Amino acid sequence: APVSAPNVFSCTGSCCPPKQSPKLWSPQLQSGPVRTRLSFQTAFSDPAYVSKYKLAYQKLRELQASNASDPRGWLQQANVHCAYCSNTYGMDIHRTWLFFPWHRWYLYFHERILGQLIGDPTFTLPFWNWDSAAGRAIPAAFLDKSSPIYNANRNNLNSLMSQITSSCSIPQMQSAMLDAQTTSLFLGKPPGTGSAGGSVELGVHGAVHVATGLQSSPYIDMGSLSSAGKDALFYAHHLNIDRLWWLWPQLPPAANGNPRANPTSADWLNSQFAFYDENAQLTM
Ligand code: C2O
Repeated sequence: APVSAPNVFSCTGSCCPPKQSPKLWSPQLQSGPVRTRLSFQTAFSDPAYVSKYKLAYQKLRELQASNASDPRGWLQQANVHCAYCSNTYGMDIHRTWLFFPWHRWYLYFHERILGQLIGDPTFTLPFWNWDSAAGRAIPAAFLDKSSPIYNANRNNLNSLMSQITSSCSIPQMQSAMLDAQTTSLFLGKPPGTGSAGGSVELGVHGAVHVATGLQSSPYIDMGSLSSAGKDALFYAHHLNIDRLWWLWPQLPPAANGNPRANPTSADWLNSQFAFYDENAQLTM
């Protein structure tokens, strides 16, 4: 059976986002211009964009400070991820085929929330294109300690790039996509079928988390799924994961002839989640 949206009222644990009754989401409720995402390098070459991006994350932090229970605030946004990755909601969307679609929805709402906080309905988040040579450098804005996109709980970023390069070369990343000979090897398997993550999730996705977050005690922020959402880099990382999912069906068929196509079963199509939208409304 498809997974159904969690009953958020039964959430227990340390990272439950605010509890409220969900409304049904529909595309008509949330129309708006199509937003085209750019790579870090392209987006951050425009100083006006950098200011906007920083302002959006500053507002996210301010909202957290002024109203800790607003689901759009910085820590609550991180909680939304934590709740789905620590069995707080009785399910973990990681290491299953829900990995790609769940994060796509999460990013969709996160981006709309940031746009709402800065009054820009065209705001887009950039993707951190670590799968290209140009994407191996993190924009300096992320290293400026006075910036709202700085995070103190990161690995030593001087060695980060070499770690990513050695643990995950560009050919390795590409083969993570190209070598997955079946849909389930790429996407992962339905929940309840054991540890069943797909090639991108278990490979490059994990490698970048490990390279970015603290890998010694207390293993936080990017170093742990439960706290990863506290670092702006997390969203940029996952936007690239999402881009790989978008690219995947456009690749030539696998060597064994299997098409690269998403599942069509009801279990896949009817999976449900619950997210907070840009008006702080829980929707499912
Ligand atoms: Cu939900 Cu990179 O993890």
